[in-house]
Amino acid sequence: MSNGDVSQGRRRFLIGATSVVGGVGVVGAAVPFVASWNPSAKAEAAGAPVTMNVDKIEPGQQVTVEWRGKPVWVVRRSKDMLDRVEEMTPRLKDPESTASSQQPEYIKGTYRSLNPEFMVLVGICTHLGCVPTYRPEVAPADLGEEWLGGFFCPCHGSKFDLSGRVLSGQPAPLNLEVPPYRFDNDATLTIGLDPEAA
Ligand code: FES
Repeated sequence: MSNGDVSQGRRRFLIGATSVVGGVGVVGAAVPFVASWNPSAKAEAAGAPVTMNVDKIEPGQQVTVEWRGKPVWVVRRSKDMLDRVEEMTPRLKDPESTASSQQPEYIKGTYRSLNPEFMVLVGICTHLGCVPTYRPEVAPADLGEEWLGGFFCPCHGSKFDLSGRVLSGQPAPLNLEVPPYRFDNDATLTIGLDPEAA
């Protein structure tokens, strides 16, 4: 569900448009166009933002997109899932997400999100970098009766709740990372841009 193809298409379009302007000798007109293109080229190299539509994501569903070469998960949390996040709080290593490296400063609280319904996380374990699996079910046989849904890392068994917060006593030292993101409107999410960015 990545918009990478769209970005690529737009980039090709911009390069093509610049060439046409240069080709007819309107150098002066080309300069501001190229000037406005350069920041985009830099952004592209650093990992351009990814925009996606979230209104088709079903409650409980996880969607993975790629941003800066990393998997980023968007999970639509139901009311029941949010209740389970609350229930997990006493069992966590850093329930208030005090490690500032793990989320932008505007991401706060138990739900670690701008809109509690949508959880956005970088899908890389904070132990040694494996990709955890999404396990939203309650008390599956392999994870035990106390499991209330979350993410399980198969490499060394770290467990995270549905807000990406690591449980106490796990090898992973930190909560999963929340990337910068914003809602452009109720249905459109952009990963890689802060809310105040225009
Ligand atoms: S890499 Fe996830 S628990 Fe070790």
